[in-house]
Amino acid sequence: MKTAATLELQRPDLILERAIVGGERTGAADGRTFEVTNPADGAVLATVPDCGAVDAARAVDAADRAFALWRTTTAKERANVLKAWFAKLLENKEDLARLVSLEQGKPLAESRNEVMYGSGFVEWFAEEGKRAYGEIIPETVRGRKLLLLKEPVGIVAAITPWNFPFAMLARKLAPALAAGCAVVSKPAEDTPLSALALALLAEEAGVPAGLINILPASRARTPEVVGVWLKDDRVRKITFTGSTVVGKHLMREAAGTLKRVSLELGGNAPFIVFDDADLDRAVEGLMASKFRNAGQTCVSANRILVQEGVFDAFGQKLAEAVKTLKIGAAWEEGANQGPLINDRAVAKAEQHLADAVSKGARVLAGGSRHSRGGTFFQPTVVAGATVDMQCANEETFGPIAPLFRFKDEEDAIRLANATQFGLIAYFYARDLGRVWRVAQALECGMVGVNEGLISTEVAPFGGTKESGFGSEGGRQGLDEYLNLKYVAMGGLG
Ligand code: SIN
Repeated sequence: MKTAATLELQRPDLILERAIVGGERTGAADGRTFEVTNPADGAVLATVPDCGAVDAARAVDAADRAFALWRTTTAKERANVLKAWFAKLLENKEDLARLVSLEQGKPLAESRNEVMYGSGFVEWFAEEGKRAYGEIIPETVRGRKLLLLKEPVGIVAAITPWNFPFAMLARKLAPALAAGCAVVSKPAEDTPLSALALALLAEEAGVPAGLINILPASRARTPEVVGVWLKDDRVRKITFTGSTVVGKHLMREAAGTLKRVSLELGGNAPFIVFDDADLDRAVEGLMASKFRNAGQTCVSANRILVQEGVFDAFGQKLAEAVKTLKIGAAWEEGANQGPLINDRAVAKAEQHLADAVSKGARVLAGGSRHSRGGTFFQPTVVAGATVDMQCANEETFGPIAPLFRFKDEEDAIRLANATQFGLIAYFYARDLGRVWRVAQALECGMVGVNEGLISTEVAPFGGTKESGFGSEGGRQGLDEYLNLKYVAMGGLG
């Protein structure tokens, strides 16, 4: 029988119980700490510093010193350091995956995917950094040259979530470093260990001290750390992945020193199944979109809109597929859905489900917490969802798939767009005219057509409306860390 010990690391030193500031491994200035636990069994994995204002200020000082040198390196020198870092990540990929599973709870296969996905950003931006081309604008006056230069924005504060503790930080750090910036970062309190390991391996790969500073902080102390960064005018950019409520707060506070802001916020993704769809493919896509990471992703399908002609058939196929999921801890054989991150997540899932059932939804599969207890929750499908339910208007962030019925294309688009969020939408259809019309009509930053999982380092990830703005990944992801400088050079004869 496999146990938590199955996830023992080859390199136990990758579990770092210190903050990283200016290349030093340090405790919080006032010695405070907090525990990091495994959501599958509650076991304490590590005790890390609970950083505060003093530590946050020290991190900015360190980043400032490191930035002064890093900004003078060539794009090729930076690329070489990032490539060495990528090689280190690959060398340690199994340990990194185990660490993600230990602190986040997702099945090992998903953690392995996350580590490859996250490392992909390091590889991608190692190359893209070399292509941060400026421009020469054709001259309008003889003897005057017009140039556009791209320069690093400066120190970046990166605040990252617990759902992809490795990949979400990698996709901010890699473009920042490739562009010539330095970073101060506060990982989510539930999952700081992956972030610390990522920075530790960067250091081993030759990333200079002070370029990546990682400050774990408890929920209570996070506002103190982030508050220092928001006020310090040397911090020129805030990049955040998390809730819309917090994103709005950060944007308001960043206005004090007019920092650049990138926000990857909540979603409320529609997943539309038209009656000309390949239903088996649509079920497969929904399983990936809805149940990856137990539904705890910003791009998780939240509202499943199914055309009336295929509503029953689709519901039945989906319920059958969901019943094959095996719930368990990451070290259990065949487990493909882990626990939810904490009790608050379970409470929200329960509340959305109770609300839907009280308003007339029918449970087709699952329907409650899992019998093994803790934060395990049964993958659930409910039919007959309606727009007055909480699950129609808020992100559930859990393994509940509510099915809504619609009549025609117009109805589907109206329902899909009836939200203040605009991160991603998915739809399944075969009619080419419909595919084009619907892709254009959906109000969001990303669309999956006959695909349930479209995240990749080579394409820009980002939303519209209250899902935020800014691109992560793709060629566009680098520009988020670069300022444009227009130089008019006159007197040239
Ligand atoms: C997220 O949930 O914020 C990101 C998921 C992804 O990159 O696919």
